Amino acid sequence: MIIAANLKTNLTRAETGVYVEELESYMKAHDISQEVLVFPATSSLNEHNGEVIIGAQNAYPTNSGAFTGEIGLDHLNEFSIKTILIGHSERRHILGETQVELVKKFNFYKEQGFKIVYCVGEPLEKREAGKTQMMEYIGAQYEGIDTAYENLIIAYEPVWAIGTGLTPTLEDIQAIHTDLKEKSHAPLLYGGSVKVNNAKEVLELQNVDGILVGSAALYAEHFCSMIQFAQDI
Ligand code: PGA
Repeated sequence: MIIAANLKTNLTRAETGVYVEELESYMKAHDISQEVLVFPATSSLNEHNGEVIIGAQNAYPTNSGAFTGEIGLDHLNEFSIKTILIGHSERRHILGETQVELVKKFNFYKEQGFKIVYCVGEPLEKREAGKTQMMEYIGAQYEGIDTAYENLIIAYEPVWAIGTGLTPTLEDIQAIHTDLKEKSHAPLLYGGSVKVNNAKEVLELQNVDGILVGSAALYAEHFCSMIQFAQDI
């Protein structure tokens, strides 16, 4: 299974270093064979040798250039980073990234052979508008994306479940994952208020290949418990 931590705008580089080492020692001590990904804040990216795969939360589709505030491929190469998160709802909705921009980013990093965790998910009003509208909305987030890309991982994250403590029911998660698997055979993660107390039951669902965890992953101990659940399944 794939267990991913999105650290968002948290943990400095020093704190991230300690965090990743805590995961490494846990994984070594417990013979963990799961795929563990960590997405630190951009300025906390660093060279890392170990089992944990470090990925970027964002990067511009360029090697380098005049894109103030952004980083490019050269900056990721400096730390041998070959994994990137694209399409997270906070980038779509807070930072205003459009599907066209996301597709450019996707294609650029796909060309470079990156492992891409591509996020999709509906806001509350789309969920409340009924299944057809909701699936249409999510379907549009697949437009322009090579769903057969070999290094693709998809994360289904309902926007209204992110950071709110709300989650869809287990039946809903399983149903939507089953529908989304028809769009792409890529591993499909669930994200949105995954915590130690619900991670196990989510991981046990059919068509759930892992989890993408935000706030609860900030505690290495909690995140390690979730890694252990995946290992024990
Ligand atoms: P959350 O965030 O676990 O805090 O809901 C998940 C995410 O944004 O990836």
